[in-house]
Amino acid sequence: MRVLISAGPTREAIDPVRFISNRSTGRMGYALAAASVARGWETVLVSGPVALCAPEGVFRLVRVETAAEMAEAMKREAGEADLIVMCAAVADYRPKTVSPLKMKKKEERMVLELEPTEDILLSLGRMKRPDQILVGFAAETDCVEQYALDKMRRKNLDWIAANRVGIPGEGFESETNAVILCSRTGGQHRLPLDSKDRIAEQIFNCILPEVRA
Ligand code: CTP
Repeated sequence: MRVLISAGPTREAIDPVRFISNRSTGRMGYALAAASVARGWETVLVSGPVALCAPEGVFRLVRVETAAEMAEAMKREAGEADLIVMCAAVADYRPKTVSPLKMKKKEERMVLELEPTEDILLSLGRMKRPDQILVGFAAETDCVEQYALDKMRRKNLDWIAANRVGIPGEGFESETNAVILCSRTGGQHRLPLDSKDRIAEQIFNCILPEVRA
């Protein structure tokens, strides 16, 4: 079984010094990679910049910085994968132009023009083979299930792991997480607050019957 997992944030440069990013630490994606390796699966991890060591036994670690680099790596690696888990917190926008020189502070206000990045999961959903299992994450502050189910359909996913953000103990910058895991066939598993390692185990336990089928 070949598994492809993305983790961590992306960074979108403004100039050589500054960037736009988010609060993702990569812990959930790295926990999934460790759980995948522990099951004996050939695991490729595509990671944005994080302060974590790659889990021992990972088949390949691909380090990327930007959403464009992550898109390129994920689409390249996806062809070989039986199971893809898109856990990374990809920046939705990037600065329209990147200044080659450090931008100097001025008295007047500054407007930064942003353009959308590629929705990597949407692309993976479009190129998905019928035998491939595609899992996405949804980070929501409100209407968690409704928005997650909508993302699952829109991006042609088999499963979506929805978590609330902006709540202590769940989602970004936390050691723990709580997830609602929904399948395209209508199945639903509520994984209550637990360590990200155990949440990762449970995610694979839930989707495993489908992986084996
Ligand atoms: N994702 C992606 N590429 C992007 C943005 C998101 O592949 N440019 C993936 C994430 O890795 C995650 C899923 O899409 O698996 C949902 O991400 P989320 O930020 O919750 O949703 P968005 O699609 O960005 O939608 P919105 O910001 O409207 O909630």
